[in-house]
Amino acid sequence: MKIFIDSANVREIKEAAGLGVIDGVTTNPTLIARENKPAKAILEEICSLVSGPVSAEVISLESRKICEEARQLSKIAKNIVIKVPLVKEGLKAVQILSQEGIRTNVTLCFSLPQAILAAKSGASYVSPFIGRLDDITACGISLISEIKTVFRNYGFKTEIIVASIRNPLHVADAAKIGADIATIPFAVIEQLIRHPLTDIGIARFLEDYKKIPQK
Ligand code: G3P
Repeated sequence: MKIFIDSANVREIKEAAGLGVIDGVTTNPTLIARENKPAKAILEEICSLVSGPVSAEVISLESRKICEEARQLSKIAKNIVIKVPLVKEGLKAVQILSQEGIRTNVTLCFSLPQAILAAKSGASYVSPFIGRLDDITACGISLISEIKTVFRNYGFKTEIIVASIRNPLHVADAAKIGADIATIPFAVIEQLIRHPLTDIGIARFLEDYKKIPQK
């Protein structure tokens, strides 16, 4: 499973990239707004740090405008992927953009039929938001399982980005299902690393090391 970082914070992206486990980045307007800098400057900096796909979201809701915005965003760097919302006009735009060779990430996906339509429209990626489904007492991870099965049944090439990840269990479950990508907030990446038995093990080794005669 590829790991993306779900962040627009350059410090977090640098630190995560330094771990050698980051394959790409996803951003959205909420994440960009936290940085208090123009979106273009943030995206340029992120693309200079990470060679994998960097998702940048459009804000237009009409297909012609989505395409115009997508073409502008694509000029920022070769690794920009255009995030398009899963609405009628978005799907129309995805079809046009895919014919132009512009990669798309269809976002705000909350159901299997929506994911099927994203794949049919030629999306490179689809992003089901599992945490937000959990928030309304629907099972987010079950949706990933359903999408995986159906994409496999029909040989759809669209990659599944598990998004709105809130905890390490979401990541483990996504991997067990065989999701292509998990996009993970920095705080959860840090949680993935930590284990209390690792800390206890290190403390004991260091204590025991002190007992070893030096001569
Ligand atoms: O990639 C989409 C993701 O950022 C949404 O996460 O936590 O706002 O539901 P969240």
